Amino acid sequence: DWVMGDYIEEAVARIREQVGDEEVILGLSGGVDSSVAAALIHRAIGDQLICVFVDHGLLRLNEGDMVMDMFSGKLHAKVVRVDAAELFLGKLAGVSDPEAKRKIIGREFVEVFKAEAARLKAGADGALKGAQWLAQGTIYPDVIESGGAKSKKAVTIKSHHNVGGLPEQLGLKLLEPLRELFKDEVRELGVALGLPPEMVYRHPFPGPGLGVRILGEVKKEYADLLRRADAIFIEELRNFRDEASGKTWYQLTSQAFTVFLPVKSVGVMGDGRTYEYVVALRAVQTSDFMTADWAELPYALLKKVSGRIINEVRGINRVTYDVSSKPPATIEWE
Ligand code: XMP
Repeated sequence: DWVMGDYIEEAVARIREQVGDEEVILGLSGGVDSSVAAALIHRAIGDQLICVFVDHGLLRLNEGDMVMDMFSGKLHAKVVRVDAAELFLGKLAGVSDPEAKRKIIGREFVEVFKAEAARLKAGADGALKGAQWLAQGTIYPDVIESGGAKSKKAVTIKSHHNVGGLPEQLGLKLLEPLRELFKDEVRELGVALGLPPEMVYRHPFPGPGLGVRILGEVKKEYADLLRRADAIFIEELRNFRDEASGKTWYQLTSQAFTVFLPVKSVGVMGDGRTYEYVVALRAVQTSDFMTADWAELPYALLKKVSGRIINEVRGINRVTYDVSSKPPATIEWE
């Protein structure tokens, strides 16, 4: 619509004025905020923007390729993909404490990103002049949150995502074009900029990714099983429609995902017994993520999902549904 068209024009002019002919680095995560920031800045300055996409190996099925396909393929933006999966798995080996896992993932993420940004600042890869700006997808609620320091968790979440203090450490100027926008405005802007609605209206995904959805020690084998099971769950949530509202169950839930439990249970297959892993499906409805109800998914949907996971993902022989609300349970399992 026109209001958004005007907004884009103004925002583009502002970015061009701020940045001039200098180059900008942006950490692309595949999440809504960094994606919309990238699309907007790319609209303004094209090849002066260099996106850095750190793949920590804890992303969902094909997620890394989808991010590359969208930004490099369709938008023709410069994107440097850093494949750090082995590095992260190595650092996580033998670690099962949830907070320790989070800290490792957060710290390594910053280290990898910093190293990449330093290279780009020095003029590597696509950065011809040497980048002078760091762009972040900070939105208005993040601004309020860091000013008011709501809860310890809120601060932790922020420090992982919008890497605090990084511009100063890197000697880069900070560009935050979404600072004045609320989440729903960011989504509208994303659609107006041509990002696909499925991307812009995605459920939130935590910075530590599958690292907090594999209970205990993270192993590649577990992550691979979880990715396939989770993709089936999400696909069916998008397929099943509630007749009354006409919405899909993906739209009717605020967040839904699969959790990998590193325990084995007995099953039967043909004449034999199996002894394989268990997953839990989690789906919640919430307005603020501070409290949440478990979603009353239709049995037909649960049946389809469990049947498909058990048949299609060898190595998992049992599917459970999490019927815990927050509080006292949290949305994530770690
Ligand atoms: P919990 O599990 O605390 O989660 O009920 C509330 C919301 O926060 C997300 N979450 C995170 N997001 N980094 C993030 O970026 C994190 O470390 C993190 N931990 C939880 C969670 O997915 C849910 O949306």
